[in-house]
Amino acid sequence: MGRDVIVACDFDSAEKVFAFLDKFTDKKPFVKIGMELYYAEGPSIVREIKKRGHKIFLDLKLHDIPNTVKKSMAVLSRLDVDMTNLHAAGTVRMMEAAIEGLTREDGTRPMLIAVTQLTSTDQESMEKDLWIEKPLPEVVMHYANNAKLAGLDGVVCSPLEAGKVHERCGANFVTVTPGVRFADGDVGDQKRVMTPAQAKEIGSDYIVVGRPITAAADPVAAYERCLREFVD
Ligand code: C5P
Repeated sequence: MGRDVIVACDFDSAEKVFAFLDKFTDKKPFVKIGMELYYAEGPSIVREIKKRGHKIFLDLKLHDIPNTVKKSMAVLSRLDVDMTNLHAAGTVRMMEAAIEGLTREDGTRPMLIAVTQLTSTDQESMEKDLWIEKPLPEVVMHYANNAKLAGLDGVVCSPLEAGKVHERCGANFVTVTPGVRFADGDVGDQKRVMTPAQAKEIGSDYIVVGRPITAAADPVAAYERCLREFVD
């Protein structure tokens, strides 16, 4: 498994995402399809982007009873995505059911990644709303470990947590990290950011980059800069 840059295609229509992807005539980026685009366009958007030669991370963050997650994962697996995800908060049993659903008859399956705690959750909201009173970094590590126990391939985490996740769960346990910005770029609404080069140094396996590429004057050049800093 090699490092790669995943481009977050946070668009609300097929038209907009294709206008964006049409710019990439040489190397086809690994693409993240999130809830916004998926709910706007349905599964056909996955098939169409796949047909254009892109790898796909389908970011739908499933969280339901194990049986429902298992059956839904079986459907996503047939869509031939390369990576998908769920909430580790759904329990180890739910994550095991997800793996069962995702695994095809020939034994292959897309990579499965867990969300530990959303980065929008802080210590205060976790204690007040969720009644979880442990320190947030420990909760993140515990959920990452649960994901590993359930047989998942890795977690989505902040680049700042990637090193610790590898220490706890092993070098082969994949870290997918959003919150990436160029040193000379806009931070926007992301609070804890790293450059692609720093994410590489700390051991992220995949970086998820949205606006620094999608909103750039030259998206292809921004993507290539990410590859140079993170992969080469
Ligand atoms: O535009 P930007 O680079 O901030 O996009 C980051 C992408 O990663 C978005 O699709 C966002 O939803 C996602 N993400 C995130 N932080 C998380 C989990 C996912 O920014 N903790």
